[in-house]
Amino acid sequence: MNVQKFIFDKEEVSINDGETSWKSPSNIALVKYWGKIGEQIPANPSISFTLNNCHTITTLKYKKAESLSFKVFVEGKREESFEPKIEKFLNRIKKYCSFIDYYAFEIHTQNTFPHSSGIASSASGLSALALCITSIEKTLDHSITEEYFKEKASFLARLGSGSACRSVYPELVVWGKNKSFENSSDLVAVPFDGAHNVFKDFQDTILLVDKGQKVVSSTVGHNLMHHHPFAKQRFEQAHQNLEKLKEALVSGDLKTFTAIVESEALTLHAMMMTSDPYFILMKPNTLKIIEEVWDYRKKHNLNLTITLDAGANVHLLYPKSEEKYAMNLINSSLIQFCENKSYICDEVGSGSEEI
Ligand code: DP6
Repeated sequence: MNVQKFIFDKEEVSINDGETSWKSPSNIALVKYWGKIGEQIPANPSISFTLNNCHTITTLKYKKAESLSFKVFVEGKREESFEPKIEKFLNRIKKYCSFIDYYAFEIHTQNTFPHSSGIASSASGLSALALCITSIEKTLDHSITEEYFKEKASFLARLGSGSACRSVYPELVVWGKNKSFENSSDLVAVPFDGAHNVFKDFQDTILLVDKGQKVVSSTVGHNLMHHHPFAKQRFEQAHQNLEKLKEALVSGDLKTFTAIVESEALTLHAMMMTSDPYFILMKPNTLKIIEEVWDYRKKHNLNLTITLDAGANVHLLYPKSEEKYAMNLINSSLIQFCENKSYICDEVGSGSEEI
């Protein structure tokens, strides 16, 4: 696959006013993307569950104009602090969507999860915006297929935030070239639909340990992989984990699933703790939750699995059949380690949707 494929090259288009709305979910990585090269090319491949309840709804209003301009509104209120990130994104995608130069945009966005939950909104937010921009492209070029539409949206979303490219598709999604996934690419995410039924309704309860702003952003963390002493081994390990995880996903081998997913989460944080400068995003309560989950899992012979993204919150993953056990553990114990006793119940979802 070549970037040329994603350059909008229609010469004559009639620019009209309009609006488009998309809903796009967050996702949780099972094999983690940590480290990037050049223009948002992942240093290693990753795979994630697309979530259902945590999502962003974005309406993009566009008016014909002499040059590109935009304003961002969050829940109806102008939010200038979001604008530098969006500006960077729009400037990056211009060479693939030259038409954006002829519009004044209003970006109206809202999340179903609280802004201060410590849950990253970049995956859902930037994928929703990328989908809206691709919708404009479709109004200018009626010949684009459904398949190309999603590919282009994933391509653009990646340029905004790497993990966002996975949110375009449902259920399990791979991003980054890997030999076990034939169509995998560094430029776009691809859906993986060969998984065992047990993963179709997997649950993710997000235990909100710390709702504050992260001390180190993902972007800074990714960059610290450039001169990281363990980078090479880590990138190779991610390839191997993805290959092993694929087999477990296909066969429904939950024990292997747990072993790989938890090792990935801890390795991600180990990379942070061994970079220069080093940093720690876990909190004491993150570790308390992990210990409790491991004890309870052993005691009841369950498949509750923890994972972390770049923060202190714990994602508790489990098959639907273990929901009663999981909720019992959460409400009788884990809840005490959550800020204001907060957690969010989510599950594998069906991906982005035009609304
Ligand atoms: C730990 O996608 O937020 O969640 O490309 O700089 O926007 P940028 O980074 P981002 O990184 C996500 C890192 C992660 C792992 C993952 O989602 O794969």
